[in-house]
Amino acid sequence: MTRQGGRQAVAPALLNGLIDIQVHGMAEWSVPTSMSVPGKTVPSLVAPGFPVPKFLYGTAWKEQETERLTRLALEAGFRGIDTANQRRHYFEAGVGAALKRAIASGVVRREEVFLQTKFTYSGGQDHRLPYDPSADLATQVRQSFASSLEHLQVDSIDSYVLHGPSRRRGLTASDLDVWRAMEELQAAGRTRFLGISNVAFDQIEELLTHAVVPPAFVQNRCFASQGWDRAVRAVCLAKGIVYQGFSLLTANGKELQHPAFLGLAARVGKSPPQVVFRFAQQVGMLPLTGTTNVAHMREDLDASRFELSEEDVRLVETITTVATAP
Ligand SMILES: NC(=O)c1ccc[n+]([C@@H]2O[C@H](COP(=O)([O-])OP(=O)(O)OC[C@H]3O[C@@H](n4cnc5c(N)ncnc54)[C@H](OP(=O)(O)O)[C@@H]3O)[C@@H](O)[C@H]2O)c1
Repeated sequence: MTRQGGRQAVAPALLNGLIDIQVHGMAEWSVPTSMSVPGKTVPSLVAPGFPVPKFLYGTAWKEQETERLTRLALEAGFRGIDTANQRRHYFEAGVGAALKRAIASGVVRREEVFLQTKFTYSGGQDHRLPYDPSADLATQVRQSFASSLEHLQVDSIDSYVLHGPSRRRGLTASDLDVWRAMEELQAAGRTRFLGISNVAFDQIEELLTHAVVPPAFVQNRCFASQGWDRAVRAVCLAKGIVYQGFSLLTANGKELQHPAFLGLAARVGKSPPQVVFRFAQQVGMLPLTGTTNVAHMREDLDASRFELSEEDVRLVETITTVATAP
């Protein structure tokens, strides 16, 4: 699997705990067996001078606790918030209420918070739809986006994500219609970046061949058993897309019990979640955590404050291939 491209990848600079997005490039690429060369594997990022935090706080499944927990996350120091206009799993208006109160009480300024939300097809929604399901898809996107701005009580957002393509394999005409509508929102200055979630590497490639505005972000569930989504991360790295990884803890329970992994955590004096999140950051991911516990919020943020050796990064990346026998 090899691609030709024209531009040069640029490693992101770190600015006060933020990733400074720089003009990216595409280079010849292939899916490597390992991507763990710290300092060389961070993705090239996608727009000049815009800071993206090193961690995102995820707001799914919090229901009536969404406002309280989002507020606590902002107070704890999170400056990136992920949500969706999908009432089945998210309470977007609770995020908006938390952000408004945090701004009013001086905890944050709007421009310090990276705010990301999503458009979800009706198949992923329950009866509480944020659009008219009989309208064409472009209208559904515009209605969902307008409803998101209302819920979030903001004029624009930082990243607007297609929650997932309509099919598991390939892209459909519907996906491209939705993407065009998202591009129009971006062109109108309503969202700074676009993204796509729950995608395979070939779907990203296909999107890139059709998109006028390429995705700045890919958000996927990240399985250690799949090399921590190595194929998708490789495309992202080559194309200057920031890879956002979720379920880093919950999708990898077995791997996080591996004696070699636990031994590493004990040796570096960090908790297993901190080691996973730090590993993710060092291989260039933007991790998400949806913790509901304030101590865990601090612990997760503190993952940015230590460094794994190159060897340790490789160990975590290849943990599924490490024998368990002593
Ligand atoms: N695009 C999509 O389709 C999609 C799908 C799923 C999720 N997401 C996004 O990703 C976000 C995160 O979801 P997720 O699946 O990664 O996580 P999650 O379901 O929110 O779960 C995180 C789990 O890890 C635990 N945890 C976190 N930090 C910990 C620590 N330091 N020590 C011990 N336990 C810790 C939490 O327990 P405690 O609460 O006790 O800390 C919780 O059980 C979601 O909120 C959502 O925004 C997106």
